Amino acid sequence: MEKPVALGADHGGYSLKEAVKKHLDEIGVEYIDFGTHSEASVDYPDMAVPPCEAVVNGECRCALLFCGTGVGISMAANKIPGIRACCCSDTFSAKYTRLHNDANALCMGGRVVGPGLACELVDLFLTTGFEGGRHCARIEKISALEKR
Ligand code: RB5
Repeated sequence: MEKPVALGADHGGYSLKEAVKKHLDEIGVEYIDFGTHSEASVDYPDMAVPPCEAVVNGECRCALLFCGTGVGISMAANKIPGIRACCCSDTFSAKYTRLHNDANALCMGGRVVGPGLACELVDLFLTTGFEGGRHCARIEKISALEKR
């Protein structure tokens, strides 16, 4: 049984998170929704922490994060040791950030991508594995940067 996916959003990403939840229900992927749970204004760094911690502590397999642009929440997520977050609005990046970067958080902008494209990005992200090989040393160098 696969671990659930962790979801997190601010108000700018709330409706896209809800659309992605519906898609996850349809394709039978389990998730834990760490909020936000309405359009009321919240700060995206606060919303990044619980889902990212759930990934780092092994409770969840990866995080799907949403804010207005996807950028702010990706910046916050990437400050959490062990998280490799990618802000994506194209399918090539969503696929290759898994293949080459072993990304464990996909960030999307509710004011940038529509629900159809977001679900495609999610599908690619969830079904693409890390290629390993020459990319392992590069991932290790990213981890080393966390210790500087
Ligand atoms: C909130 O208005 C907005 O700044 C936030 O959702 C995000 O786009 C930040 O990067």
